[in-house]
Amino acid sequence: MPAAPRLKILIPHAAIRRRVRAIARRISLDFRGQPVHLIGILSGACIFLADLARELELEVSIDFMAVASYGRSGKSSGQVRLIQDLGSSIEGLNVIIVEDVLDTGLTLDYLRRTLLARRPKSLRSVVLLDKRSRRLAPEVHPDYAGFEIPDQFVVGYGLDWAGRFRHLRDVCVLLPASRAGRRARSATIP
Ligand code: IMP
Ligand code: MG
Repeated sequence: MPAAPRLKILIPHAAIRRRVRAIARRISLDFRGQPVHLIGILSGACIFLADLARELELEVSIDFMAVASYGRSGKSSGQVRLIQDLGSSIEGLNVIIVEDVLDTGLTLDYLRRTLLARRPKSLRSVVLLDKRSRRLAPEVHPDYAGFEIPDQFVVGYGLDWAGRFRHLRDVCVLLPASRAGRRARSATIP
C-alpha cells in the first residue's frame, strides 16, 4: 500500500482570514459605491470567493466559470480551454476575476482576453496565492493578491490534489510521501 501524503501548514486560517478582510477593504475603497461582479474560477476559488464576497462593503453579484489547461502530469501546457461558461452577460459590469492561485499566469491571461472581448465596464483580478517565480506570462499581474508563496504544490482552502483536501481551513504544502509508511500515515491530516 503506498504511503499516504503528508501535509504541512503553510498559511494558517487566521492569517488567511486577516488577509481576505484587508483585500476586501481595499476593493471596497477602490469601487466605493459601485456594484462589482465577482467571477469565481471553479473549483479552486469557491471558498476564497465565499469569504471575500461576505467581507465586501459593496453591492455584489456572483458568477462562475471553469477552465482547464491541457497538459501531461498536471502541468499547465499553455493551452487553456473553457469547460463551463458564465451564466449571464458581463457587458458594462465592474468584473473581478477571483482565482485561487496564480502559477504560470497562462490561465489568468486567457481569462482576461476572453472576458475583455465581452466588453465589461472594468476588469480586475484578485488571487489568493501568487507563485511569482513560476510566471511564464510576465505581463500578467493580479490587481490584488493575498500571499506570495514559493514554488511548492499547495492544497486546502479550496485547492485540491486529485480532488482531495479542498475543505481544509489552512493552506498546506503537500510533502512527498515518506518511505517510512507507518510514521507518515500517523502524521497525515485526513
Ligand atoms: P496557471 O495557468 O499556471 O497560472 O495555473 C493556475 C491554475 O493551476 C490554478 O488555478 C490551479 O487550478 C492550478 N494550480 C497551480 N498551482 C497549484 C497548487 O499548488 N495547488 C493546486 N492547484 C494549483
Ligand atoms: Mg484554479
